[in-house]
Amino acid sequence: MRVAIDGPSGAGKSTIAKIVARELGYLYLDTGAMYRAVTLAALRRGLSFDGDGSSIATLAENLRIDLAPAGPNSSGPTVMVDGEPVTDQIRSPEVGRHVSLTAAIPGVRRALVRRQREIAGQGGAVLDGRDIGTAVLPEAEVKVFLTASLDERARRRLKEQLGRGFGVTFDEVRNELAERDRIDTSRQMDPLRQADDAVLLDSTGMTIEEVAAEVMKLCRQAAGRLERAEAPRAGTPETAGYPATPERKEGL
Ligand code: CDP
Repeated sequence: MRVAIDGPSGAGKSTIAKIVARELGYLYLDTGAMYRAVTLAALRRGLSFDGDGSSIATLAENLRIDLAPAGPNSSGPTVMVDGEPVTDQIRSPEVGRHVSLTAAIPGVRRALVRRQREIAGQGGAVLDGRDIGTAVLPEAEVKVFLTASLDERARRRLKEQLGRGFGVTFDEVRNELAERDRIDTSRQMDPLRQADDAVLLDSTGMTIEEVAAEVMKLCRQAAGRLERAEAPRAGTPETAGYPATPERKEGL
């Protein structure tokens, strides 16, 4: 199955996606980390965020980004750019202020979405982002749109940023999230929006465990639907009424 978790900044997508991936034994892909990695590399190279963004799009096509799975004590997967670990650097306030500009460049999205589909195409996967249910994996079996009030999201993000050692205030964090929401929902290509078939989950006032349990319930329901959809195949005219041959049994 593919599990798509979309929503605005700080709604808890990556926390939930990691838990769900672990419980299902699936791969977890933090697509936001890829946009952040390109943004960090663009800032380091002094590329311009104004104009058509073509130099950043070229960078996105050629940049080596590696996402190693999360370790038992790490808060997320290790992110490597050009072979250098940048897991904390991509969460800096400066990257935060520029990442939505990077993500609005169509050439950047084309390059990263292609890579995301390749990675997710390898088997069971949980992806979180802004356009997973609408553009990256529109055929995903489970789609969740996870949100929370702006104040709650800002409180959660402030705690995270202070924990990482970044000296920021509540107002700064709140303004950054609001500005990112504005750019992400109004960009031309694949803006942030709830897919028609996504389940809306407002996590305001909910614990991590409660949200994860809700998403796991949706996964179990989807797995049940898939099983039921596949069951009639065992009784198609070709096979119905015939005892399965040993070869057939093995094949099943
Ligand atoms: O951690 P947070 O939820 O704040 O953001 P993120 O998931 O790391 O994503 C950072 C930014 O990347 C978002 O604000 C979007 O501008 C962009 N993004 C996107 O456009 N599409 C995605 N699938 C994932 C992220």
